[in-house]
Amino acid sequence: MKNIVRPDHPDITPEMWDTIDGIILNWKAIPGALITVLRECQEVVLYLPSELLTYIGNGMDIPVSQVFGVATFYSFFSLTPKGRHNIKVCTGTACYVKGIKESMNRIYGKYNLKEGGTTEDRRFSLEGVRCLGACGLAPVMVVGKDIHGAVSADKVIQILEKYE
Ligand code: FES
Repeated sequence: MKNIVRPDHPDITPEMWDTIDGIILNWKAIPGALITVLRECQEVVLYLPSELLTYIGNGMDIPVSQVFGVATFYSFFSLTPKGRHNIKVCTGTACYVKGIKESMNRIYGKYNLKEGGTTEDRRFSLEGVRCLGACGLAPVMVVGKDIHGAVSADKVIQILEKYE
């Protein structure tokens, strides 16, 4: 991006910055494209560090406060690092009754990973979600785009170990 200095950031490589510049240039002239730009940049970096939000604002000639406002408003944007595999564990009633809590305890025991957190090696992040809409499969866990049903405490680690 001309005249805009790339900030140093440990999670953003020069190649990532090139891709980000391409995204900004693609969408810069299109009104209302900010959400798309944020989404595509998040796919590259896996989250939206504040330095990146400032860079996007400057690159798109949008007030930085507006960029932060949009990024913090939508729950699908994350301003903190995510793991390579995002785990969504259903904490809704049907899943709770069928013992999802014990699975979460096992995840914590194995990976030292709590709800809202990310493992140090960025392998996994964990979210608790209120009903994933698949109560018939309870207890339910989603890893990335994969839905896992009938997730017992005995099976949960075995399932997660398949995700490197
Ligand atoms: S309560 Fe878990 S999927 Fe509905």
